Amino acid sequence: MDFLDSRRKCSSAGKVIVVAFFIAGCVVMLRQMYSPSYTSPNLFSQHELGVTHVLVTGGAGYIGSHAALRLLKDSYRVTIVDNLSRGNLGAVKVLQERFPEPGRLQFIHADVGDAKAVNKIFAENTFDAVMHFAAVAYVGESTMEPLRYYHNITSNTLVVLEAMAAHNVKTLIYSSTCATYGEPVKMPIREETPQASFCFTQLLFLPINPYGKAKKMAEDIIIDFSNTNDMAVMILRRVFHRNVSSFFSSSHHSDTNDAYVYRYFNVIGSDPEGRLGEAPRPELREHGRISGACFDAARGIIPGLKVKGTDYKTADGTCVRDYIDVTDLVDAHVKALAHAKPRKVGIYNVGTGKGRSVKEFVDACKKATGVEIKVEYLDRRQGDYAEVFSDPSKIKQELNWTAQYTDLQESLKIAWKWQKSHLNGY
Ligand SMILES: NC(=O)c1ccc[n+]([C@@H]2O[C@H](COP(=O)([O-])OP(=O)(O)OC[C@H]3O[C@@H](n4cnc5c(N)ncnc54)[C@H](O)[C@@H]3O)[C@@H](O)[C@H]2O)c1
Repeated sequence: MDFLDSRRKCSSAGKVIVVAFFIAGCVVMLRQMYSPSYTSPNLFSQHELGVTHVLVTGGAGYIGSHAALRLLKDSYRVTIVDNLSRGNLGAVKVLQERFPEPGRLQFIHADVGDAKAVNKIFAENTFDAVMHFAAVAYVGESTMEPLRYYHNITSNTLVVLEAMAAHNVKTLIYSSTCATYGEPVKMPIREETPQASFCFTQLLFLPINPYGKAKKMAEDIIIDFSNTNDMAVMILRRVFHRNVSSFFSSSHHSDTNDAYVYRYFNVIGSDPEGRLGEAPRPELREHGRISGACFDAARGIIPGLKVKGTDYKTADGTCVRDYIDVTDLVDAHVKALAHAKPRKVGIYNVGTGKGRSVKEFVDACKKATGVEIKVEYLDRRQGDYAEVFSDPSKIKQELNWTAQYTDLQESLKIAWKWQKSHLNGY
């Protein structure tokens, strides 16, 4: 009896041990299966020969998402950091769907002004370069909320630079603006067009709004810092046009508002293959960008457009400006990355070098959308230049970059196609 009992006890204990081993085995297997190191070893934390890992700040935004797409297409490894304050998670999802392979793209929801978070991101990832796009970027808004702009642009750039210094990341492509030149007296705008001037004995900075000033300060910080080490820095400035509201505005603003709501012509277009587009938050529409106003008018969201000034000394009497397609712009960034060299600071204006009149733009917009947008032609306002455009010869010579998407109507058509299929954004 005792013998039988002890046999039974032994076999039960054996079964328990077997089951325990089985459960433990399952747990280990499941852990392995679902641990990131099993599904995808964290490739973002390792350098890989022949793979350049780029941190794209603001990669959920208009330009940043297009830049991330191009980098991914060119086989770069991309980490997007964005706080989604203005960008679209939808854009990130589009990219994730296109590039699902391990080690291609990761998205980190974080604020680049949060030094602790940024430091952690740099500690956990091995970046080879940073493309810093994250910023608030509306001239009119900057005049109303200057502190926000200095904080978000200048101070956040400092945080990014400090993290780069601490973690030995040596290449920075900085997205700046020709708003840093203020109101240049001579056209075209060249890289050596002054950003500051002496008035008697005082040095005056020329940018005329907090957006331009904040970007100029960020540039200065980057340049000063790069002088102390072997960083490779490329600063790309986009053509900026002052006070656009004074000669092209959507009809739903009163003139009083226009007096301090600055808008600027700038980047237009979207991904030619229709994967990405420009989708600013509805509340930002009033600060408007040129193609946004045009599409809103075409969709009937605003009643029409006002063009101010028809008697300038230009071919058709309206002001002439320089427009850059986002695809070209992103190409300039990628070329800058490829040409970045230690101890070199490259500063480039990115524009077509060719001016287009406001009337031409409006006509192109009408043709691209197929909508007879209502346009009011009004008297000009004081202080607008007849023509504003950049001289892109330096970037052509040094980076072998020239704008390819210079057909205004075609750029607008591509962007309109995306707009029509994404009436509520992403
Ligand atoms: N669009 C233009 O016409 C233009 C012209 C000249 C320069 N730029 C510059 O290009 C860059 C991108 O502009 P955009 O037109 O794509 O703007 P956007 O608003 O579409 O994108 C900016 C992105 O940065 C993110 N962001 C903002 N603050 C952040 C923060 N603190 N932390 C993390 N993410 C943050 C936003 O969520 C957004 O996704 C900006 O630096 C802007 O100054 C734009």
